[in-house]
Parts: sequence; structure tokens; C-alpha cells
Amino acid sequence: MNLHGKTAIITGGSRGLGKAIALCLAQEGVNIGITGRNEETLKNVVHEIEKFGVRVAYATFDISKETEVKSGFSQLIHDLGEVNILINNAGIGNFGKLDEMPSQTWEQVIQTNLFGVYYAAQCIYPHLKELGEGDIINIASTAGLKGGAGMSAYAASKAAVISLSQSMMAEWRKNNIRVITLTPSTIATDMSIDGGLTDGNPEKVLQPEDFAEWVRDILKMNRRALIANGSIFSTNP
Ligand SMILES: NC(=O)c1ccc[n+]([C@@H]2O[C@H](COP(=O)([O-])OP(=O)(O)OC[C@H]3O[C@@H](n4cnc5c(N)ncnc54)[C@H](OP(=O)(O)O)[C@@H]3O)[C@@H](O)[C@H]2O)c1
Repeated sequence: MNLHGKTAIITGGSRGLGKAIALCLAQEGVNIGITGRNEETLKNVVHEIEKFGVRVAYATFDISKETEVKSGFSQLIHDLGEVNILINNAGIGNFGKLDEMPSQTWEQVIQTNLFGVYYAAQCIYPHLKELGEGDIINIASTAGLKGGAGMSAYAASKAAVISLSQSMMAEWRKNNIRVITLTPSTIATDMSIDGGLTDGNPEKVLQPEDFAEWVRDILKMNRRALIANGSIFSTNP
């Protein structure tokens, strides 16, 4: 499918995977809306995207706060007009021992990674339903498939995202909305490098561009085809 002229909102589009997806889709002629908490980094990505000659807008808000998400999304939909694709990407990784992690940190991880996906999807669903088609990609993690030491909050949040995303697909698919759950393994970004997940060798794991190209290819599939779930790993970890 040709993506030229479609419009995508990518949460957490200022850095890491979100930025790579934004640039990759802009290269295909997709109009882009990006979100994040830091206006300066968002503006820098906007300038990079403008070079592709597509429409681009940004909104600065905290994805863990429902009222901010609602006003941010209505601003973006107003600025961009029709929106066809939502990439639920914004997330945080706080790693540490279960008995040592403050409960506020635990709550913040769940509030950002799980409620952020829920809030954004609720904002875009009425728009896609009215349009009669759309795509929602929810980015979970292999950490959500199996819990592990030092990642209790993160793994629990991502397991919940997988479940939420599957329910979303079951309810919204009939409206010609493809809901896709992705569970990537480690990819070299601030989150994984700062979290000590790349063992000091970020060049050995997947790069953000690898993931972005996969997302692009999934979106390009004929609308009759829906990739419900997918994992991606580096070949030689
Ligand atoms: N990298 C990996 O190895 C990996 C593996 C599996 C899954 N994932 C998932 O992929 C997604 C992207 O991760 P990444 O590695 O690209 O992380 P990253 O480099 O740390 O980027 C995170 C993005 O999310 C935004 N963000 C974080 N908290 C936010 C909040 N409260 N409100 C609004 N925006 C927020 C950040 O912007 P601001 O800081 O400016 O707000 C940034 O744009 C996450 O959901 C992550 O869990 C990553």
C-alpha cells in the first residue's frame, strides 16, 4: 500500500524509536504529528521532518496525564486535519529491584506506559471510526511476554499493554481499524543504553532504523492483512 498522503501521530516522537519512525514515514510522504514533554527536542525533529516536504505538527504534553493528552490530541488533529495512523510509542523504563523501587516510581511507569496508550487510543478512536479506516500500532516489549529480575514495573506495564492492545483489536477491528501489538527486544536508544541493557555495546543490538523500517513495512501491507502481533530480535545478541 502506498502511504503517501496519509497522516500519522507518533507519541514520544522526539527521540529513539519514535523519532526514527517519524523520519522513516515522512520519507514515504506521510504527514507527521509528534508528541513529547520537551518542546526543544520536538522542534528539532520537526525541522528534520520538514525536509521531506510533508505537513508536520507537534504537541508538548505528558502522556501520563489524561487532560493534557486530550487537549494535545485535539490540537494535533486540528493542525493536521485527517489522521489515519497512531503509533503508541511514548514510554519510560525504570529498572531496579522490586523491594527497592519506590512505589511512586512503580506508579509512574504504569501510568505512563499503560495509561498513556489507553488515553491516546481513546482520543483517536472516534476519529478513525468516523473515517472508516485506520491503524493503531501499540509498542509493548519482549519484557511484557515474560517478567524478569530488575524490571518488575516495566514488564508489568508492557504485559498490560499487550493485553489492552489485544482487547482493542477485538473491539475495533470491525471498524476497519488494524490494531497491531509489537514486542521488540533491545534496541539502541537512550532508554536501553541508560538502563544498562546494551552491556556497553549498543552497536551490537538492533538500531532504531531497523525497527522503523519494520513498522513502515507493516503499515504498507494491503488493508485486508492485519499483523496482530510481532516480535523482533537482533540476530547475534
Ligand atoms: N529501546 C528498547 O530497547 C525498547 C525495547 C522494547 C520496547 N521499547 C519501547 O519503545 C518505546 C520507545 O522507547 P525508546 O527506546 O525510543 O525510548 P527513549 O529513547 O527513552 O524515548 C522515549 C520517548 O518517549 C517520550 N516520553 C517518555 N515519557 C513521556 C511522558 N511521560 N509523556 C510524553 N512523552 C514521554 C520521550 O520524550 P520526552 O522525554 O521529551 O517526553 C521520548 O520521545 C517505549 O514504549 C519503550 O518501552 C523500547
